[in-house]
Amino acid sequence: MSQQQEKKIITVFGATGKQGGAVVCALSKSGQYHIRAVARSRDESHTQKLREMGVEIVKANIATGAGLDKAFCGAYAAFLNTASFDPEIEGKEYECGRCLVDQARANGVKILIWSTLPNVQKLSNGKYNVPHFTEKARVEEYIRSLQTQSAFESVIFVAPPFYYQNFLCPKFLPKKDEKGCFVFEFPKLRTLTACDITDLGPIALKLFQNPHPYNGKIVLIDSENAPPQHYIETFQKVTGQKSCLKHQEMENRKDIHHAKQLAEMFAYLDEFSYFGQEKLPIVHAREIYPEVKNWETFLRKTGWKGEHQEEP
Ligand SMILES: NC(=O)c1ccc[n+]([C@@H]2O[C@H](COP(=O)([O-])OP(=O)(O)OC[C@H]3O[C@@H](n4cnc5c(N)ncnc54)[C@H](OP(=O)(O)O)[C@@H]3O)[C@@H](O)[C@H]2O)c1
Repeated sequence: MSQQQEKKIITVFGATGKQGGAVVCALSKSGQYHIRAVARSRDESHTQKLREMGVEIVKANIATGAGLDKAFCGAYAAFLNTASFDPEIEGKEYECGRCLVDQARANGVKILIWSTLPNVQKLSNGKYNVPHFTEKARVEEYIRSLQTQSAFESVIFVAPPFYYQNFLCPKFLPKKDEKGCFVFEFPKLRTLTACDITDLGPIALKLFQNPHPYNGKIVLIDSENAPPQHYIETFQKVTGQKSCLKHQEMENRKDIHHAKQLAEMFAYLDEFSYFGQEKLPIVHAREIYPEVKNWETFLRKTGWKGEHQEEP
């Protein structure tokens, strides 16, 4: 048997995306695991980065269930994430998540990381409706119910807040006005909790290496927590580009999909912050991985100066 085959298998969903991609990258750098990256297509162009890392690529679809057995077969651990706004998944994210968890369990997966978000419905007493948060939280509750029968050795929930990378994509990209000032349009928010989503990779690696102390915990990837104005001032300081903040509520953004849901999300975050006043088993990312990047470090490391960038 080759060395690669002897390594424990970790299955990573969303491996071509930001969260799963970060996890694959960190696991691959460690050289400790056999990485099984899941994608809906094995096309060379679509999976090029994964191919360069030399990881196994398995074709599976969360929405139809096709290939899930193969994805989990013989796996020791798995990173699970559902893409809420993918047309195949939207409207049935809870069912998709639950199916993933059941398949992982049926295949004897021992360690699970579930990418979660708060239950907005519950925490706001029904005031706000943010399905892409609540559906993930419902899957978390389902997993917790299974854990009363010790379905898995350890399950850890990771909760990424707003990615810094969102500022680099069309929805939140600053626009240059006629005076050359970068205008960041953002809804009213007391504090924006945010992270460099690539930091999820080394965090997940640490959790896979030492899962048991974190069993049942929610790891909040909160690398920066500051008013939106701080992000703009830091951008100006680091890049030297004149910039300003303009309040713009999401429901007025005719240019984006899901504007209403995002408006409710920001209203919820403004009133309750991520997890409200609930006493939850939260661990902050810095306790696991002190190197998490604040916004200033992110700007300095990436060299981003306000231009559009799909893949930071
Ligand atoms: N943006 C934020 O600030 C933020 C913050 C916290 C949480 N989130 C959550 O992050 C999630 C998205 O994760 P991401 O940012 O990593 O997404 P992403 O970069 O858009 O990537 C989506 C991934 O999901 C995979 N995927 C989509 N539909 C699939 C299906 N039917 N079966 C199997 N795989 C499927 C895609 O794989 P293939 O196309 O290769 O099949 C791709 O790898 C969303 O649910 C969102 O709620 C986002």
